[in-house]
Formats: sequence, structure tokens, C-alpha cells
Amino acid sequence: MKIFIDGKYYSEQNAKISVFDHGLLYGDGIFEGIRAYNGRVFKLKEHIDRLFYSAKAILLDIPMTHAQIMKAVVDTCRQNKLRNGYIRLVVTRGIGTLGLNPNRCKKPSVIVIAGKIQLYPPEYYKNGLDIITVATTRNLHNALNPAIKSLNYLNNILAKIEANNGGVEEAIMLNSEGYVAECTGDNIFIVKGNQLFTPPLSAGALYGITREVVINLAKDSGMNVSEPNLTRYDIYNADECFLTGTGAELIPVVKIDGRVIGTGKPGAVTKQLVTKYHTLTNGSGEPIYP
Ligand SMILES: Cc1ncc(COP(=O)(O)O)c(C=O)c1O
Repeated sequence: MKIFIDGKYYSEQNAKISVFDHGLLYGDGIFEGIRAYNGRVFKLKEHIDRLFYSAKAILLDIPMTHAQIMKAVVDTCRQNKLRNGYIRLVVTRGIGTLGLNPNRCKKPSVIVIAGKIQLYPPEYYKNGLDIITVATTRNLHNALNPAIKSLNYLNNILAKIEANNGGVEEAIMLNSEGYVAECTGDNIFIVKGNQLFTPPLSAGALYGITREVVINLAKDSGMNVSEPNLTRYDIYNADECFLTGTGAELIPVVKIDGRVIGTGKPGAVTKQLVTKYHTLTNGSGEPIYP
């Protein structure tokens, strides 16, 4: 594997970052998880836009332009002969001192890793997930805004540990008011009748790119989509439920906190959206091999 770090490619063994990098010392940095399908990078511009929004929010001056980062992602895929895979784009605050002052970090580092990902085993896509709500509350906007895709994922990891301890793969996180925010690495949707619902971003969710794609696919197929605050009651009584994320794609949920959702099997609307999503991912995106 060839890994891009600050304009050069390194082998896996030699791809190294300083122990003084504040990305490591403080989780001070940002990232994107991006997918390539069929020789194209899916929604690349949207991911790079979000990276720059995260950077702005944490006052991080990315030392490359939008176009240069897009090129670095595509070039790294080509260097690794990738056609289908997962790309991790990371920008760290860079090398600083042992104190946390970010002004001591002279130059952020840009890293691109192009590899593979399989978040859930195939049987979960077929039969659906069993998930639980956990006690770890989603980060507050005025503490660490969940819209920032920062290198500090401890909030999500703590929730994931609770899910693991509860014997399930994923957790629903509520916000401090008790409304559903999102899962540890995915956005959440429910279907009720011909309506699709997902929590508003203000409830404490990441501005998911898959979320946006799915909202548009549903609207195009005539569904009514809205983003109200959702409680656990709403989710338990949904006809269908599914999660979205670049890594997870669309994955059905059939049980939440012991309550069977709908028929207990992946629903028709979910299945339709999965098909439409795959049609889109396989036929669009930034070409790696023009
Ligand atoms: C906390 C969180 N929510 C939602 C998502 C889904 O976002 P996207 O569809 O842009 O991958 C992710 C994925 O990275 C995430 O980490």
C-alpha cells in the first residue's frame, strides 16, 4: 500500500507521523471517510467541502487547496490501483510542543490512505441489525459540535463500547434533551407509511453525505421526507428503520432496545433505497482512471 503524507508516498511500514503531532497528543485534527466504487470516487467534492468546513470550525489552515486535495485523493487511489475501496483522508494540526497550544504547531499534515473496509458482516445487510440506545449522550454543540468530523471520536467510541458490552454492533445516541441524534458512525432514518424521517442536524448529528443522498433519492421517488425531532417512542413504532454512512452504506435495523421494528425484517422502502443507492454509487463520481 502507498500512503500519501504531505505530498509524498510512503510504504505502509514507513508511513509515520511524529509523536509530537497534536492529532495524536490531543485528537486535534479532522478527517473524512470516502468510498470508491467502480473506479470512481463517490461524492468527492462533498467530502472535501465538509473537510474544509470542519477545518474552519477548528481554525485549522489546511496547507492545500480544495483542488489539490481532490487530486491527492484520486492520485492515491490510482497509486494503489484501487477501483473499489475506502479512503481515509486525515488532516492533523501537525507537530507541536507537549502543551496543547495549537499556535505552536507550525504546519498541519495531510494524509491519504486508500484501502478496504467492511463495517458489518453481509448477513446484517440481509437480515438487519439489532441495536440499543446507550447512556453516553452525543456531544453538545457548544462543547464539541457533532458537525465537526474531528479526530476526537471518544464520544462515539464510548457509545460503541456500550453497544459492544450490550452484545450489539451499533448504538443509538440521544442528545442532552433526550431526542435521537444519530448512531456512533451512522445517521438514522425511520419509515412510517409513505414518510421518511431523520433527526434534524441540530439534534446533534453529523451532516452525513449518505444521509443527504438518501433524502434526495427518497424525494425523487415521491416520498415525503422530513426532519423532526424524534424520540425513542417514534423509532420503536416505525414501520422500518435503517442507518446510513459512507462505510456502512444503507443497513436495515430490525430491533431496537428489544422492540421489534415493523415486521422484524428489512422493509420494502429500505430495500428500494438500497438498490437506488447502489445504482448511484456504481455510476457516478470522480473518475480515478480518466
Ligand atoms: C458520527 C457519524 N455520523 C454519521 C456518519 C455518516 O456520514 P457519511 O454519510 O458522510 O459517511 C458518520 C460517518 O463517518 C459518522 O462518523
